[in-house]
This record gives sequence, C-alpha cells and structure tokens, in this order.
Amino acid sequence: MSGQLVMSGVPWFDDRGQTVNAHGACLLEQDGRYYLFGEYKTDDVNRFAGFACYSSADLADWRFEGIVLPQQDGGLMGPGRIGERVKVMRCPSTGVYVMYMHSDDLRYMDPHICVATSDTIDGEYTFAGELTYQGEPIRKWDMGTFQDDDGTGYLLLHEGDIYRLSEDYLVAEERVAEGVARGGESPAMLKHDGRYFLMFSHKTSWESNENFHLSAPALEGPWTYRGHFAPDGSLTCNSQCTFAFRLPTGEPVYMGDRWSFPHQASAATYVWQPLRAEDDTLSIPEFWGAWDPRTRGPAELVGKETEIDFSSDIAGEEIVIPFTGTRVALVGRSRPDGSYARVELTRADGTVVSSIYVTFYSKVPDSGYRYVSPVLPWGHHALRVTVLGEPTEWSDKRGERFGSVGTRVTVDRAVVID
Ligand code: GLA
Repeated sequence: MSGQLVMSGVPWFDDRGQTVNAHGACLLEQDGRYYLFGEYKTDDVNRFAGFACYSSADLADWRFEGIVLPQQDGGLMGPGRIGERVKVMRCPSTGVYVMYMHSDDLRYMDPHICVATSDTIDGEYTFAGELTYQGEPIRKWDMGTFQDDDGTGYLLLHEGDIYRLSEDYLVAEERVAEGVARGGESPAMLKHDGRYFLMFSHKTSWESNENFHLSAPALEGPWTYRGHFAPDGSLTCNSQCTFAFRLPTGEPVYMGDRWSFPHQASAATYVWQPLRAEDDTLSIPEFWGAWDPRTRGPAELVGKETEIDFSSDIAGEEIVIPFTGTRVALVGRSRPDGSYARVELTRADGTVVSSIYVTFYSKVPDSGYRYVSPVLPWGHHALRVTVLGEPTEWSDKRGERFGSVGTRVTVDRAVVID
C-alpha cells in the first residue's frame, strides 16, 4: 500500500481499501507478523464501536483481521459506553492473549479498566469484566501495558501508577510505583539497554501537546523526569503517545495518535517515528513524513510533482486533480484555522473508489504529506478535494473548548506515482 514506507499523519488504507481504523493502539509481533490492535472509531459519534485488529509483514501493508472485541450487549462495554486504549499481551504462563481497555460513560465520568481474553491472537476476545487490585476495581482511565523480558506483565496508568499483573495476567497483584507522572495521560513504556522509559502526554483531550518521558533503572524507580522527546514546539510531531515497539534489529519505534475529532475514523492518523535511545533519554530528533523500516532512514514518495496552489475556506469549493498512474499524494499545510476536506478518489468511468475526510488542522502549523491514496491498477483516475466548511472542534470534560478557528484547506502540490 505505502510502497513499504511507514507514513505519518496521512490515512493508511487496508487490504479492503478502507482506512486503517486502529487508534490508541498497540503492536504485537508473532511468527514474523505484526498485529495492530486499536479503537475502531466512527466518523460521527464517540462511543465504543469495537476494537479492531490488523496484521502486516512489513509495517506498511495492513490486512484487516476483524473486530476482535465488538460492542457488548450491555454492561461496561455495551451501548452508550466509551472504549479506549486497547492493549494486548500474550500471557507466557497460560498462552492466553489478554486484552486490556478503558471503559467509561460518554462524559468520561465512570472510568474502569477492563479485561478480555482469547486463545488466538486475532480473537474474538471474550469480555471478562473489570480488572481488580486487592478485590477492588481500578477506577482509572488512560492505560497502557508492558511486558518485561522475563514475561512479567504490567499495567500502566495515567498519573504514573504501575501495577504488576498476576501470573495469569488477569488480576493486578502489586502496585510497584505510584504517581510518578502527575498530570500525565496515555502511558507507554519501553525497555532499552536495561533501562525503563515511560512516556506520557499532558491532559489536553484530543489536542496534541508536548509529551514527556521519564527513565528508571527498575520499574519501582527511582523515576527521573527527562523532558520532551520530540522536537520542541512540534507538540510531539502533532501526536499523543500510545505505545512503543522494536524493529527486528532492536531499534525502538514511537507510536502516537494524531486525533481528529469528530471525524476520527478517517481523519485521525498515526505518527510512527524511530526513537533514539541514548543513555537515559529518548528522542525523535526530527519528524519524518515517510521512512523505510528496512533502512530505518527517511524516505520520500517518488513521482511526478504538480503545483496545485489551492487554498479556500468556502464550503463546497473544490479542486479536481486528474492523474495517470497508480496513486497520488497531496502535500499541503495544516494550521490553526484549517479543517476538513472531503477527498474522493474516482476511476476514469466515475466510480468512486474511496471517499474520506482529511484534516488540514493543527495547532502548530505544518507542511507535509496530508493524503496518500490507496494503490490502484495503473490507469486514468481523478482526485477531488472539496472544502467541507466545518471546523474540527470539541470540548473536554471540564468544558474547555479545543480545535480549529477556521475551515481552510490548503493544498500546495500533488505527487503522481506511476
Ligand atoms: C485523552 C485520552 C484519550 C481520550 C481523550 C478524550 O486524549 O488520552 O484516550 O480519552 O482524552 O478527550
């Protein structure tokens, strides 16, 4: 799909030609295949619509494996609930795949950490209710998981609590650290050269902020604050951390979400960047719009470049880009007054191949790839980019408003790939 490149901040298309819909995700490697689990968002409402699983051999081409935990008939993951930050680990002592998640009500006022299990990696998982500690439910929201080299499993929580899981992974058995990151959300952990690293975002709802990290010689601590890990002022390359994994060569990779409320299913994208781990710190020295996991170096989409020079905030204004080849990419600007375009890919006979929302919003302005089409058989196609005229905006649970102050769509260039 992506010519074996890992692209950040653009929609990814799966083997069905639909956007890879796996947000707040985690990644597992098994028998030479990567399995990606995440929130299967909708483009209209924020309720739990299932957790999805995709698999890939190269981190670039993703196959939809299915909804591995659908909405339940009732209860904590039933209708009218939130389901977020799904994480999966294989329990070494039982061989069972254990899934962890944040369940909540639609106002985020009823948080629970829940668990589900499956004998196979790709489900379907059986919901098992709340995860408990000393017989009591854990009433926290953002969570992550970590599996140590000896197979011990850990649950990570916002604000920096860490729990060691029981041998069967189904109960939180011991609180090994508490409150090591006050104000932190979306915890993610990485072990590198015997050191532990914890990444967190600040609490700005779906808006990006300057994520930070800590390191420690042991999970119990002492945890030392190590500052931001992405380029300063980039709001973590416009993303929120969710997970970290390693390439077969051992190099760590950061996984983050570039949220886009309310059209998360198509317009929220992924930011995956190689991480540099040196001594006690992690860093993403510079943002790479595309990189090659085989060389671990930056890459570019190679094709015929055409100036477009389109900028409009008027609903319905559009540009049609006819092209001959297999795919097309758009380079454009996201900015505080930017918002959605409807991007429609059509064949020569007018059949619509794909129609999605693409966002041109970011709190900190950015120029780069905004869209890369799915691969089509070589031929004559067209891309239609239409200004939606609708801002991307939302309020958090405290009522604070976030999002764009305009509806502008700015496309500078198209790249046509043969
Ligand atoms: C934060 C959390 C997300 C989600 C949003 C909702 O970003 O990390 O998982 O709960 O808030 O506003």
